[in-house]
Amino acid sequence: MSDLQRTHTCGQLRRADAGSEVTLSGWVDTRRDHGGVIFIDLRDRYGKTQVVFNPEHNAEAHKEASDLRSEYVIAVKGKVNERPEDMINPKLETGEIEVMSDKLEILNTSETPPFEITADTDVSTELRLKYRYLDLRRPVMQKYLTSRHRVCQAARKYFDSNNFIEVETPFLTKSTPEGARDYLVPSRINRGQFYALPQSPQLFKQILMVSGLDRYFQIVKCFRDEDLRAQRQPEFTQIDLEMSFVREDDVINIIEGLMVEVFKAVLGKEITAPFKRLSYRDAMSLYGCDAPDLRFEMTIKEITDIAKKSNFKVFKSVAESGGQVRGINATGCAKLSRKEIDELTTFVNQFGAKGLAWFKVDENGLTSQIAKFFNADLQSEIIKRFSAVPGDLLLFVADKESVVSQALSQLRINIAKTNGFINEDEFNLSWVVDFPLFEYNEEMDRYDSLHHPFTSPHPDDLEFLEERPLDVRARAYDIVLNGVELGGGSIRIHRQDVQKKIFNLLKIDEATAQERFGFLLEALKYGAPPHGGIALGLDRMVTILLGLDDIREVIAFPKTQKAACLMVDAPSDVDEKQLKDLGLSLQKPD
Ligand code: AMO
Ligand code: AMP
Repeated sequence: MSDLQRTHTCGQLRRADAGSEVTLSGWVDTRRDHGGVIFIDLRDRYGKTQVVFNPEHNAEAHKEASDLRSEYVIAVKGKVNERPEDMINPKLETGEIEVMSDKLEILNTSETPPFEITADTDVSTELRLKYRYLDLRRPVMQKYLTSRHRVCQAARKYFDSNNFIEVETPFLTKSTPEGARDYLVPSRINRGQFYALPQSPQLFKQILMVSGLDRYFQIVKCFRDEDLRAQRQPEFTQIDLEMSFVREDDVINIIEGLMVEVFKAVLGKEITAPFKRLSYRDAMSLYGCDAPDLRFEMTIKEITDIAKKSNFKVFKSVAESGGQVRGINATGCAKLSRKEIDELTTFVNQFGAKGLAWFKVDENGLTSQIAKFFNADLQSEIIKRFSAVPGDLLLFVADKESVVSQALSQLRINIAKTNGFINEDEFNLSWVVDFPLFEYNEEMDRYDSLHHPFTSPHPDDLEFLEERPLDVRARAYDIVLNGVELGGGSIRIHRQDVQKKIFNLLKIDEATAQERFGFLLEALKYGAPPHGGIALGLDRMVTILLGLDDIREVIAFPKTQKAACLMVDAPSDVDEKQLKDLGLSLQKPD
């Protein structure tokens, strides 16, 4: 056991503490030997404090200090000294003082770490993840985790004061319909059978409403075996909630209140609600996607009508065969070189666009290799539609709607980013509402739920549910932060007959419905109240609040692109005996 017990943290001491005897514990951040006097920056979660070992002050402590290396864990006892004016370090909160060491105890040594703890040098992600404990020792990572904690605490406080109760739901459960693959867990006791890890607590939270819990929330892990694109992890955390006797506005108001509290708690920022609301249809037509970044304008506009009247074959044939021609005005971008425009063309090619037509705007109208196919009237119509002025660059894609939307929505962001159209300090929160209930699955020739099959159709649209399913609106809403889908939810179906109709349309037959969600259908028979809810992605929220790009930065122990944890080396092989207990045999890949 150590003789020295810490009295203060490494971030605590100030000028007013000068003269007092203190003991600090922590990690050796840096060690400098200045002609016989050794200076240590001692680090812990709270900060750094300079400790001085002066042979004239205490020869023994100084001698021991010469053994110290980076990341040794030590305790030091000494007196707090005010630093002379010219030695004050304004970068450290403790920069006005230092501790003159009288006694040093080495609590543990350390091998040379594979990367420097404090430096923001280029360390590979693999190395950081393998030695995550060292990575998390970096002050910046501790700051991120602290901010995440603040979000959770603010949320818990807010929900508690709004009558929500936190209920845990099971991890060993049955498949939940969020559209990804399940992670399965084999059962030893029920050989040959499997649990599924929940993709979300969706069905349990609805059941809790049937139970009369009225307002539920949970900060909960969800598991989805999907291909890992950016902003996705196989296990991630949701702030999940469900409410009874509510309409869309009630859920939206609760979330707006939550976001106000979260911004206050984490960034000390006042944001104002209500947030802008956009219909799905407007989002798709103006921005080409259902999670638009509204920090900049550059809306998409359609010129299919003008294209039809032009002599440009590509546009004309697309326009005449039911496709569309839409474009954006990259304001002030006429200065882009041919090479830069060619790069934009390659960029939109990855989203299926066959080309990118462009016009530069000058005092005389439009210029480009295709301008000759548009007479003066058509040119001025185009200019008018985009409110274009000399110096602007107009960019167009002609194709079927889905390709045009995707290509232009990505192009819009690309141009905004590379040309500094985005105010990086802004946080833009908005709602997308009036989603369609279904989308058509060409491959399977059936309708799929856009959200999940428990989403309530809009009551006004029920009458044409069967005839025109694609026109039926869902009582669903997504919240979007800076162009990222932060969360989504809906008012649910609480009546068995409606639920059955929806299963029919989704071509989920009675037996399958019983097998997969029988418990919910059964529960709906016993007085289910009208209810609705939402779930927000916590990891995404914290990432954006902190101005980061990668959600792994705010997750203590994240997984790689290949869904592996490099620190513990998971997934990994298991014993033959474990497999036998589970009644499993493996087909190893070649
Ligand atoms: P949804 O599937 O839209 O809704 O998920 C809600 C939010 O969770 C976040 N999210 C993810 N974050 C990181 N990695 C992932 N793989 C990942 N998948 C989703 C997103 C998303 O907006 N049960 C419904 C909610 C409801 O209807 O109440 C649900 O899970 O930020
Ligand atoms: P082309 O007639 O193929 O030489 O193309 C002339 C211009 O039209 C080029 O700038 C192409 O990138 C562009 N283009 C070709 N196909 C499309 C399309 N489907 N949508 C938009 N622009 C296109």
